[in-house]
Amino acid sequence: MSYQLIDSYGRTINNLRVSVTDQCNFRCIYCMPAEGMVFVPREEILTFEEITRLVHIASGLGISKIRLTGGEPTVRKDFPLLVRMLAGVPGIRDMAMTTNGFLLKKMARDLREAGLKRVNVSLDTLNPETFKQLTRRDYLSQVLEGLEEAEHYFRLPIKVNAVAIRGYTDDELLDFALLARTKPYQIRFIEYMPLDADHRWSRDQVLTGREIIERINAVWPLEPVRRNGSREPADLFRFVDGTGEIGLIASVSEPFCGSCNRIRLTADGKLRTCLFSLWETDLKTPMRMGVTDDDLAEMIISAVARKEPGHLINDPSFVQPERTMSAIGG
Ligand code: 5AD
Ligand code: SF4
Repeated sequence: MSYQLIDSYGRTINNLRVSVTDQCNFRCIYCMPAEGMVFVPREEILTFEEITRLVHIASGLGISKIRLTGGEPTVRKDFPLLVRMLAGVPGIRDMAMTTNGFLLKKMARDLREAGLKRVNVSLDTLNPETFKQLTRRDYLSQVLEGLEEAEHYFRLPIKVNAVAIRGYTDDELLDFALLARTKPYQIRFIEYMPLDADHRWSRDQVLTGREIIERINAVWPLEPVRRNGSREPADLFRFVDGTGEIGLIASVSEPFCGSCNRIRLTADGKLRTCLFSLWETDLKTPMRMGVTDDDLAEMIISAVARKEPGHLINDPSFVQPERTMSAIGG
């Protein structure tokens, strides 16, 4: 049996999320500040060779799935080249990307040719005015066009991630349900988590997965989809009368930390064992000082051994991490 990364709670870690940049062409209110976001200086960002080397080492430790994130991954210069390099790493059986979709229309084909087969597109509203408020950009039509383009190149259904925020998403649940029923998109509602730069998150803004399903179900009945042995965080439902799926990522109201299989690499080369970690392992500095692959593998193993049991969002002692989602990689 080949190597497996197992943490101190018995969870097997086979999934690495790789943030390729902390920059973004949007400024979503639940992620970034409107102005004055401080980005990591260019020389601190891992090069394509460095990212590929770390993914290679991780794959030797049993990582078989990677997800490219940001910030917004497509704004990284020559991003399709990185995809091509990572597609060539042995042992990576599944590579996907999470994107805001703005550049997909232009880039979908190149990404597919570089070896990318799966994308998740973030889209929190179908209303142009709300889109402007939430992302602080007027780009809804570009994202919708990007999604259409993506249908030609990537595995269907395309997963569409909508952060569910009370006061925004409540009005649009049925519009999203209709989209899931009429397009090859699986709409996945993600509960709003305290990772915003402005530290404005409050519990009453979390529109829970349960409420979402109840409200959609009242109009178009849903049934749970059973998935044997799945370690996906999304609970999946399908419309009883035919096609279309709705996913729920109930990170706040029903944490799935007990089956977490992930670790994260930030764009500046830090390994994080949880979205909400208050510590990280610097892989970039030792790598640039010339340590061996085995040394780096040891560092990954010992970080995983310290992986926290779960987030404490629901605990009075909860402390929001300093990095925002854009700097962690969602
Ligand atoms: N809570 C929940 N999801 C978030 N995302 C970004 N910030 C938050 C937050 N505070 C989502 C993005 C994207 C994914 C990378 O993470 O919308 O879908
Ligand atoms: Fe950019 Fe994604 Fe953050 Fe929005 S959530 S600002 S698209 S990184």
